[in-house]
Amino acid sequence: MTVDELRRAFLTYFEDRGHRRIPSSSLVPHGDPTLLFTTAGMVQFKPYFMGLETPPAKRLTSIQRCFRTTDVEEVGDDNHLTLFEMLGNFSVGDYFKDEVIPWAWEFLTGVLGIEKDRLWATVFTDDDEAAQIWAAQGVPPERILRYTAAQGNWWGPPGETGPMGPCSEMHYDWGKTPGCAHCADDSCHPDVGCGRFLEIWNLVFMTYYREEDGSQTTLPAANIDTGAGLERVASVMQNVRAVYETDELRHVLAAAEVVTGRTYDPAENPEVARALRAITEHARALAFLVTDGVLPSNEGRGYVLRRLLRRAVYFGHRIGVREPFLERVVDAAIDYSLNTRPELAEQRDFIRRIARLEEARFQATLDRGLGLLDEVIAREQGTKRIPGRDMFVLYDTHGLPPELTLEVAQGLGFTVDREGFDAEMAAQRERSKGEESFAVEHDDRAIRYAAIEVHSDFVGYDALDARSTVAHIASGDVSVATLEAGAAGDIVLYATSCYPEGGGQVGDRGEIFAATGRFVVEDTQRYGETIVHSGRVVEGSVAVGAEVSVRVDEERRLDTARNHTGTHLLHAALRSTLGTHVRQAGSYVGPDRLRFDYTHPESPSEEELQSIQRLVNTKVRADIASATLELDYDEAISRGAIAFFEDRYTSRVRMVEYCESRGHGPGAHTDECYSRELCGGTHLQSTGQIGLLLIVSDSSIGAGMRRIEAVTGPSAERFVEDRNGLVNTLARRFRTPAAQIPDRIEALEDQLSSLTKRLEDLERRATASAADALADRAETIDGIRVLVTRVQVESADALRPMADRLCERLGSAFVTLIADVDGKPMLVCAATDDVVARGLSAVDVVKVAAGIVGGGGGGRPQLAQAGGRDAARIDEALAAALQAAKDRLAAR
Ligand code: SER
Repeated sequence: MTVDELRRAFLTYFEDRGHRRIPSSSLVPHGDPTLLFTTAGMVQFKPYFMGLETPPAKRLTSIQRCFRTTDVEEVGDDNHLTLFEMLGNFSVGDYFKDEVIPWAWEFLTGVLGIEKDRLWATVFTDDDEAAQIWAAQGVPPERILRYTAAQGNWWGPPGETGPMGPCSEMHYDWGKTPGCAHCADDSCHPDVGCGRFLEIWNLVFMTYYREEDGSQTTLPAANIDTGAGLERVASVMQNVRAVYETDELRHVLAAAEVVTGRTYDPAENPEVARALRAITEHARALAFLVTDGVLPSNEGRGYVLRRLLRRAVYFGHRIGVREPFLERVVDAAIDYSLNTRPELAEQRDFIRRIARLEEARFQATLDRGLGLLDEVIAREQGTKRIPGRDMFVLYDTHGLPPELTLEVAQGLGFTVDREGFDAEMAAQRERSKGEESFAVEHDDRAIRYAAIEVHSDFVGYDALDARSTVAHIASGDVSVATLEAGAAGDIVLYATSCYPEGGGQVGDRGEIFAATGRFVVEDTQRYGETIVHSGRVVEGSVAVGAEVSVRVDEERRLDTARNHTGTHLLHAALRSTLGTHVRQAGSYVGPDRLRFDYTHPESPSEEELQSIQRLVNTKVRADIASATLELDYDEAISRGAIAFFEDRYTSRVRMVEYCESRGHGPGAHTDECYSRELCGGTHLQSTGQIGLLLIVSDSSIGAGMRRIEAVTGPSAERFVEDRNGLVNTLARRFRTPAAQIPDRIEALEDQLSSLTKRLEDLERRATASAADALADRAETIDGIRVLVTRVQVESADALRPMADRLCERLGSAFVTLIADVDGKPMLVCAATDDVVARGLSAVDVVKVAAGIVGGGGGGRPQLAQAGGRDAARIDEALAAALQAAKDRLAAR
């Protein structure tokens, strides 16, 4: 059975048992601050288990792409992967142990035909119920083991907080491991870890929730979360010990063999086999991560990706590959993953480019790292030991894996301080805690509003007004019956026309009118099924149960819609101009402007930005009518709708499209759509209402991520007015028509630079003639011409050229000049080389003189400068300088 046949068999089996098939969600979890990556099939269903949202069905099944970094060091052994697919069936408060255990058994032994004698079951210590159900399937008592949480029979939460529960696992027995003492005396079991057993199936009886403070609460219902590693089950089916030898991965591995020129033969050469496996695994994970919008960087998800990539390159290095190779393995990984992730094909060029650039970059650091290691080795010849700190710096700063440091060191008869390294790593982990789980900001409001169980209908797509009844009022975090004038609070209605913030679009503002009073809505938010209006009562009072009418602030809504529709047009224009690798990474849609974050590895040129803006405005002028459709997710995607990569899957989706075919312009009779996106936001009826879209800025916001800010409608008009006003002001100031401002500026710059040159020239000449006049005043001491005098200069800048000129004129000379520049003494001292050679240094003298005028300075023996505070003591300083010069000459 191939891996893909296994996928289909699994889904069919559970669909036949009433499960709704749900597509895999992104590797980047949607709106879940507790997780860096999707680590299990249940991640996208967490809100259902927690009772915060209603699931599309109570029985769900999926094949989820997962990414886990906990075992990255193990990658290369038989069965650890960072990227893998998890087969899952889930019950949201529906079936429980009685159904799920027999299904697992039937699927494994009946559908897949796995030998019953090879399966072992484990249950949580006190789970008699599960143990009995396994026994009823015919599993003999000696193969039903009771394991503790430490032995693996408690699952969750994923991250610091979340759903969890006791679990029951199935292990496959490959047969006794040679050399295992437990196998020899028949006492072996899965937890011994001798390699004999492979965990292939995990049933989580998900009934608890771990809170932020570590306490445990009970979930609203008892749920089932089943997870089975696709590649592991496939290895059993294909009777290969290593997941890398199952069909899809084996193809990628074959490409790695070709590219590196090494043969995969674990028995013959385990080192090479391990390297080839790691390269295979990391290349595949890279392709998937990039397709889900992760790009290499130095933090968070991007750092994890970078580390993986480096590990792959290092393994190549380790088996002697010195040329770039990763891109070609990545290419093969794409070829053999299209069954499960067809989108990889579309992103192929982009993914390959990322692999190529990163590999080249690391090749450079890898060589440098190895160079630094050589230096450490030279330094430590005495101890013959690499300190843990160096090993850590080589790894952490230069990306040199500790295994490589160890290998090189051992080859030279060195040992390494592994403990020191581990301690540094532990300290580092402590510093950067939260790679797997971010700090949790528990949103109390979400929990609170889930508890009130009010379902609010949003009826504001087509209408700005709605009538409804007040369902709930809160003041702070306390629910109240009435809110009086002046009081701030939250109002929940059964239906509202106010759009709750979502999909980047800000929440609406507006007003709620009751017979008894008026409430101004300052913001609207959604918590699960509940829409909450926050604001204050401005007249009378509003009470729970009151009949009210809601009115949305129309102008603000319309301006926001201009920016939302503008965002869609911009997104489409970016993709058609820069390429389809461009994906939305975040957005802000407000009444004032729009911000669109997207992935693109380099900064677009001025011309590109201009053609993007032109394309958008062409579509604005085409006045394309919008259409909004409700349809099945799969259908929307097959019609080419773009989904924001963090979008959560729902079975029915809303698709907003702007299709020329609905308009009157070119393309009116084709099926072409300029823009088609899954979107819950509020939009314009036709693109013409945007008026004009102007890109105000494009900037980098991190590796491979960019941000465009743009304005539309009245804001665009104001933007143009402001710019125009500025140009008019400049035209008036420069007394020239606007079009000639650049020429005028250029002419002024030329004029300025020629004037500056002339001025410098004049100054030079003035300095020279002043210096020449002074030269006659020099006295001769010991054959040296010494001049210590007060001078008058315009600025301190003139002192040095003056001293230089004097030295030149006087030949063998020592000069000290002090000037009063705007009440501050400024000093310069200069000595020709022969004078310095005779023991008279400009620095020494300048210090003496500067000390007297209350300042300090320094320089070289040939030239020193200083400033002071006390201009009244300049004469005294001059006298001291002369004396100091004489003393030093006499001392020789
Ligand atoms: N969540 C469980 C796991 O990851 C079962 O799906 O193993």
